[in-house]
Amino acid sequence: MYVPPKLVKNDDIAQLMDTSDEWITQRTGIKQRYWADANTCTSDLALKAAERALENAKVDKSEIEMIILATLSPDHEFPGTACFLQKKLALPGIPALDVRQQCTGFIYSLAIADQFIRTGTYKKILIVGAEVHSKGLDKTPEGRDVAVLFGDGAGAVVLGATEVRDIKKDSHLLSTHLHSDGTYAEELWTPAPGTDCGPDRINFETLEKREHFPAMNGKAVFMHAVKRMPEALEEALKKNELTIEDIDLFVFHQANIRINDMIAKQFNIPENKIFNTIHQFANTTAATIPIGLDEAVRAGKLKKGMLVASAAFGSGFTWASAIYRW
Ligand code: ACO
Repeated sequence: MYVPPKLVKNDDIAQLMDTSDEWITQRTGIKQRYWADANTCTSDLALKAAERALENAKVDKSEIEMIILATLSPDHEFPGTACFLQKKLALPGIPALDVRQQCTGFIYSLAIADQFIRTGTYKKILIVGAEVHSKGLDKTPEGRDVAVLFGDGAGAVVLGATEVRDIKKDSHLLSTHLHSDGTYAEELWTPAPGTDCGPDRINFETLEKREHFPAMNGKAVFMHAVKRMPEALEEALKKNELTIEDIDLFVFHQANIRINDMIAKQFNIPENKIFNTIHQFANTTAATIPIGLDEAVRAGKLKKGMLVASAAFGSGFTWASAIYRW
C-alpha cells in the first residue's frame, strides 16, 4: 500500500468547513486521512503501491501479463488510468483494464483476474485500487457531509496461478460474489461532467450547480450497506460451506465504522478478527481492501495460510464479497 505524505486530521478539516473532530469520530470512526499534493495523481499512488506489491511478492514486473486498476478518481477522463500506470511501470503490450465499481472495485477486479487465471489465460495479474479523492471533494461548508469521509491512497496485489494441493493450507481465491443495482445510481454519484449533461459534457450550468462534486444520500447508502454487505458475506460462506468460526480475518470495506460494527454484531464476529483501518485512512474506496490487507500483514494479524473474508458496498449501488486463503 501507499498513501501520500500529507496527513489531514479531523481538526484540519474543521478549519475548512463547519464540522468537528467529535462529529466525524462519532458518526464515522474517522480520525485522519491522507491527501495528495497538487502534483500527484491517481496513477502515481498506484505506481508506488504496485512497486511495493511486486517487491513483496518477489515477482519481477516482466512476469505480469495483465494490469487491472480500480478507481473512481481517474487521472483523466480517458484513456483509463491503468494505461497511465502501465506507462509508468514500463510494461507496454499487455492488457491494461480500468474497473469502475467504486468501493467494490477491488473485489470486482479480483473476480475478473480470477477468471483469467482459472481459464489458464494468464499466470500473473497485477491488481491495483487507487484513489485521489481530495481533488474532487467540495471543501466548502456545503460539501461537509461527503468531504470528511474520503482519503487518498493505493493498494495492490499480485494474483498468481497456483496449484492447490491442500485446500486448507495453499493460498488461493475460493470464490467471489458480485452484485449491483443501478436503480440507486443517483444516490451516490458525481453528476457532471458527462454525456447526460445536455448538449455539452462540460457546461456552466452544471458547474454553477456544483454538480461536478460527489453527492450522496448518506442515510440511503447506510441502510443499503448494512443489508447488502451481510448478504454478500453470507453468500460467500454458504458457497464454500464455511462458518464465521472458520474465517481467520475479516477485511471489510471501510466507509463507516458503524456499518462494520453492525455487521460484526449481526454475525457475532469477535473484535480481534476484524481488521479496520478507517480511523487512519478514512474511506479510500477501491484502495481500501488492499490497504487493509497490507496493514494487517505488517501488524502481524494476517499470516500465510489464513482464511480471509472481504465484503464491500458502494456507489452503483454495487456490493460484493470474496473468500481467499492468504
Ligand atoms: N460535520 C458536522 N455536521 C454534519 C456533517 C459534518 N461533516 N455532515 C452532516 N452534518 C449534519 C447534517 O447537516 C445533519 O444536521 P441536521 O440534523 O441539523 O440536519 C446532522 O449532521 C446529521 O446528519 P445525518 O446525515 O443524519 O448524519 P448520519 O448519522 O446519517 O451520518 C454519514 C452521515 C456519516 C454520511 C452516514 O450517513 C454514512 O456513513 N453513510 C454511508 C456512507 C457510505 O457508506 N458511503 C459508501 C461508500 S462511498 C463510495 O462508494 C464512493
